[in-house]
Amino acid sequence: QAQAILLGIETSCDETAAAVVVRDQSGRGTIRSNVVRSQLDEHAAFGGVVPELAARAHVEWLDHIIAQAVEEAGIRLEDVDAIAATAGPGLIGGVLVGLTTAKALAASLDKPLVAVNHLEGHALTARLTNGVEFPYLMLLVSGGHSQFVLVRGVGDYERWGGTIDDALGEAFDKVAKLLSLGHPGGPAVEQAARSGDPTRFKFPKPLLREERLDFSFSGLKTAVRLQAEALAPLSDQDVADIAASFQDTVAVIVETRSRQALERFSQQFPGQEMRLVVAGGVAANRHIAQALEALCSTMGAQLVVPPIPLCTDNGAMIAWAGAERLALGANDGLDVAARPRWPL
Ligand code: KG4
Ligand code: ZN
Repeated sequence: QAQAILLGIETSCDETAAAVVVRDQSGRGTIRSNVVRSQLDEHAAFGGVVPELAARAHVEWLDHIIAQAVEEAGIRLEDVDAIAATAGPGLIGGVLVGLTTAKALAASLDKPLVAVNHLEGHALTARLTNGVEFPYLMLLVSGGHSQFVLVRGVGDYERWGGTIDDALGEAFDKVAKLLSLGHPGGPAVEQAARSGDPTRFKFPKPLLREERLDFSFSGLKTAVRLQAEALAPLSDQDVADIAASFQDTVAVIVETRSRQALERFSQQFPGQEMRLVVAGGVAANRHIAQALEALCSTMGAQLVVPPIPLCTDNGAMIAWAGAERLALGANDGLDVAARPRWPL
């Protein structure tokens, strides 16, 4: 198989991103550039991502970000072997901006277009960063998704469970908002929790007694709100204790579910080394990561957490997923549609 240079474009949420990734003959990947422009400032005043503003910012910035990615990679646009872009799931306005730009580039350069599922991008990143082999279990915990996916091969995924209401990052963001800690909430809650007592409040762990590999975080978030209201006005110590108790509850939920998922993995693949790959912005949380490290070391499982800038949304993961699919002959053509919903 020949070496391939991929340009990857990601615009499905509030990051305008482009990257150049090379996949060599042996299937190893190298990131040549990875440029991400976050729209945090545009959305900050609204306490969350505003889809129309996001789409406009992608229109304004994407060309510059692509030019920068190509320049930093030390190549010319014509050197690219294929263009990969997120075609969904995500905010449809933004997805259309990235996919349409990718189509224009593919047409003008006469190169293949690979339409990438954003979740597949997250799922395959650990192969780019850590060379992880199939099969493995992925835990995706971001602002928009919380799910377990069995990754058997490129294009061969099985969803084992996920949230039935809020995503985990979303729960962090909402808890941060009701504690007046700002947006994005995850890092703020983690910071506040450092000086807090995780045992002061006992919050519910919805669904945890059931056998299914699903999550539910909205009842937990409501319990946190009721506790905050009962204590109002909150002292700094109250805020820290609530943040720490919430974060610890979440860590127990994630650890418990991951144990169950790994047990299922070992039943399905007896004798196969268990591998747990974590993706999504919540992977940056040290308390949750430590709970998973402890779990995997007791279970003898391999834990893979790609570098955090590659766990959050970026162009390299899309370029890489495009490269893996291109190597299997993918070429989606210029008629491929953007999809707001697109399960793996
Ligand atoms: O993957 P990501 O950058 O964007 C998508 O949602 O696709 O994830 C962002 C989410 C936000 O909800 C943010 O609050 C959360 O990840 N997050 C964290 C931490 N850092 C980011 N959650 C908990 N602890 C953190 N340190
Ligand atoms: Zn994502």
